[in-house]
Amino acid sequence: MDKVCIQGGVSLNGTVEISGAKNACMAMMAAALLTDEVCTLRNVPQLRDVAFFVQLLQSLGVSVQNPEPHTWQLQAKNITHEAAYDLVRQMRASVCIMGPLIGRLHQVIMPLPGGCVIGNRPIDLHLNGFKALGCSIDNQSGNLHVKAKHLKGNSIYLGGRFGSTVTGTANVLMAAVLTPGVTVIDCAACEPEIVDLCTLLQQMGASIEGVGSPTLTIRGTDHLKGFDYTVIGDRIEAGTFVLAGLITQGTLHIKGFQTQHLNALWHLLDNIHADISIHEAEGSVDVKPCLDRLTPFETTTLPYPGYPTDLQAQLCVLGLCIPGISLITERIYPQRFMHLPELQRLGGQTWLEGSTAILKGGTPLSGAEVMASDLRASAALYLAGLIASGTTSIHRVYHVDRGYERFDKKLQALGAHIQRMDEG
Ligand code: EPZ
Repeated sequence: MDKVCIQGGVSLNGTVEISGAKNACMAMMAAALLTDEVCTLRNVPQLRDVAFFVQLLQSLGVSVQNPEPHTWQLQAKNITHEAAYDLVRQMRASVCIMGPLIGRLHQVIMPLPGGCVIGNRPIDLHLNGFKALGCSIDNQSGNLHVKAKHLKGNSIYLGGRFGSTVTGTANVLMAAVLTPGVTVIDCAACEPEIVDLCTLLQQMGASIEGVGSPTLTIRGTDHLKGFDYTVIGDRIEAGTFVLAGLITQGTLHIKGFQTQHLNALWHLLDNIHADISIHEAEGSVDVKPCLDRLTPFETTTLPYPGYPTDLQAQLCVLGLCIPGISLITERIYPQRFMHLPELQRLGGQTWLEGSTAILKGGTPLSGAEVMASDLRASAALYLAGLIASGTTSIHRVYHVDRGYERFDKKLQALGAHIQRMDEG
């Protein structure tokens, strides 16, 4: 197991290229299960989660080629409907194979996903969607046996107490595209990753209307073609680097993503007088030193186009850099604050009131040993380490490898003093 040691106090300067979107590519790889034709996906980030997902697809019988580092070729000719527990238990996103297997084979046996440090993450909404399409669901010793004699289009409301569901929308959508009749999904997720999936499915021959809106209308078909598609840039990685540039008072050029996917972040930063230049046509943004003029903020995480929960932990670090009190309320995963006690270890003045983080900015951070707990919390600890005086050692950094391609290398290329080493 690795740790990283970061020497703080260095500003980040230069250009960083954003990788493909982690939260788009796995559902898109799962879409290959919908056809027996060759499917090519490009700009796929090199991440632990992707490597793992490839293993899962191979376990289902998908043949996989990796002709070049960010390109995968998949063909699901003869596939099984049963997913192995020892693979599924390691990654929640495995759940998005259910929809395509139901659409293609009318059945799936799927171990119920386990818990997650960021909070309770049920899949009840996914299952309600499958039932609405005609599936029966039987829990046998923790394995969900889902099957349908006849799938039939239906009207489905996918909203839950926290709003829409991203992978739930992807799952039900991928079942519906091969379901005879018309399916209307209300309260569908509008995240860019869902829009990207819809566009890919349309390239395969699926009939989907309302893309990008909370209401998707799908006319099922009996066959889908293969695809050759390029994944969008990762808006969460891009937002992470924007915040890293701001807190280290650097000059950064961040490129390779669609800037309109981060409008909620631009709105917040504009309100606190950040010096950000957005180049939508080029798909890039420039960050300039401006920390001394930023003012405290208040925000709430919401489903897209609201402020993304996946940038909540990173934003907490910015709040600790701005004198005054900033507030961040977490509405998607109310317990998603494992990073706060670790930021306190670095001297961060922060408290939790219910699901609102109170950040008292202005106290300089100082290096310490800290523990990563999940993907975005790890990114927040890297950011804090970049500005803490002295050395910050972050343990269990494998978490960050799940969602940030070559994060250490990209930060080092921008001037960060980071060393990665074996814990031993
Ligand atoms: C996706 O998770 C992302 N992961 C998450 O990113 C992201 O935080 C989340 O969407 C919200 O934007 C991937 O796309 C692989 P949800 P997902 O279903 O789809 C509740 C990261 O750091 N809910 O939209 O699993 C759920 O508990 C990861 O990159 C139900 O109650 O999230 C949560 O409170 C973390 N029942 C809320 O809805 C359900 O059946 C949103 O969950 C499904 C979800």
